[in-house]
Amino acid sequence: MSMYEIQGGRPLNGRLRVQGAKNSVLPLLAAALLAPGQSVIHHCPDLSDVSATLDILALLGCRVSREGESVTVDAAPISGSAIPERLMREMRSSVIFLGALLARTGCAKLCYPGGCELGPRPIDLHLAALRRLGAEIREEGECLSCTAGGGLRGAHIRLPFPSVGATENAMLCACGAQGVTTLAGAAREPEIVDLQRFLNKLGARVSGAGTSVITIEGGRSLHGAEHTVMGDRIAAATWLCACGAAGGEVALTGVEPGSLDTVLACLEQAGARVENRGTQLRMVSTKPLQGIQPVHTAPYPGFPTDAQAILMAALAGGRGQTLFVENMFQSRYRHVEELRRMGADIQVRGRCAVVTGRPLHGQRVRSTDLRGGAALVVAALGARGTTQVTGLSHIRRGYENLEGILRELGADIRLLP
Ligand code: EPZ
Repeated sequence: MSMYEIQGGRPLNGRLRVQGAKNSVLPLLAAALLAPGQSVIHHCPDLSDVSATLDILALLGCRVSREGESVTVDAAPISGSAIPERLMREMRSSVIFLGALLARTGCAKLCYPGGCELGPRPIDLHLAALRRLGAEIREEGECLSCTAGGGLRGAHIRLPFPSVGATENAMLCACGAQGVTTLAGAAREPEIVDLQRFLNKLGARVSGAGTSVITIEGGRSLHGAEHTVMGDRIAAATWLCACGAAGGEVALTGVEPGSLDTVLACLEQAGARVENRGTQLRMVSTKPLQGIQPVHTAPYPGFPTDAQAILMAALAGGRGQTLFVENMFQSRYRHVEELRRMGADIQVRGRCAVVTGRPLHGQRVRSTDLRGGAALVVAALGARGTTQVTGLSHIRRGYENLEGILRELGADIRLLP
């Protein structure tokens, strides 16, 4: 089992271009299915979740190729509409293919695994939205078979909760529905705006992304297009929190600063100096981070749940007290136990976690999920002594070359077989 070995206490210094956003490229690749033509996605990160998505596209009959950071998907020869269980288990967010397959082929089959490391991952909002558009969905155990026998028709959909995935699935399916769909209560994440941009390049007519009402004029004939994925705001938050934990000065390009402004505000409150120069984000951290106002995770533009563990790890090695309230997922504190083994003082009660900063020490720790694993690396960079982090498959789902990037910035991190 491979692991990272990290000698903490070395400041990070340097400049890096942030990878393409994992949570944007996955729906973008599903959207490529809508057009019977060739699309090229640039700035595509090299992640195991992306590879799994490309495997699904190939399995559905698409011609897929990758040239560096550019992925080409020719969806003209699509021949299937069933996603195998092993690929669904590998990546839960493959549920995003439902809407695109229904729009393109009129049917979709997939077995939906239940919960994951973050707790139950229901898809009731996805299914309700697709049914509103005319899909018939039969649930047989964990398997769903969806058809649009009578054709998809535009509808007014109201999401009771701004689910990112349900918003994306509804947008993709509505592109194949005759007439206009309005999606109220939509998620407002920047990744949704990125998806709208690509859909309109494909020839769709989508507007309102970034607000809570999105309008899709469906039934238009679509064609392939080129698109460059937005920067990964959570990866950017990770590098900045790493700098907060270890100290130093880091400059980031390739990410829209406004897409992580809640994280920037927290880091500034904690004593780091953040400069937003439009195309470049720069942060200087010369002293231990201080405790800050309570951090409540919320749908965008609130504090992103994906940055909760990462910021907690940076503050756990600082000074002062911070209350976290995790409102988005049921069990997103699994990294706490591992941080505690590094000496962190974190008290969890239900959705709340109170972090009291203190010096951390090296330890052998295990990643429990993608962002929890990244949090352990962040904590290790600021801890005294040597930390070994196992469970790297979780981290590889969302971070491209994490050890190479941190080494470039001056961290003492090695990948041990
Ligand atoms: C997306 O997941 C992201 N994944 C997640 O990032 C992110 O944490 C999440 O949005 C929230 O921002 C991708 O984009 C691939 P949701 P998604 O639907 O779409 C409940 C990471 O680390 N819900 O907004 O699954 C759900 O259980 C990952 O990169 C329902 O109840 O998130 C959760 O509690 C982790 N019914 C809440 O809503 C539904 O039908 C938010 O889920 C759908 C969701």
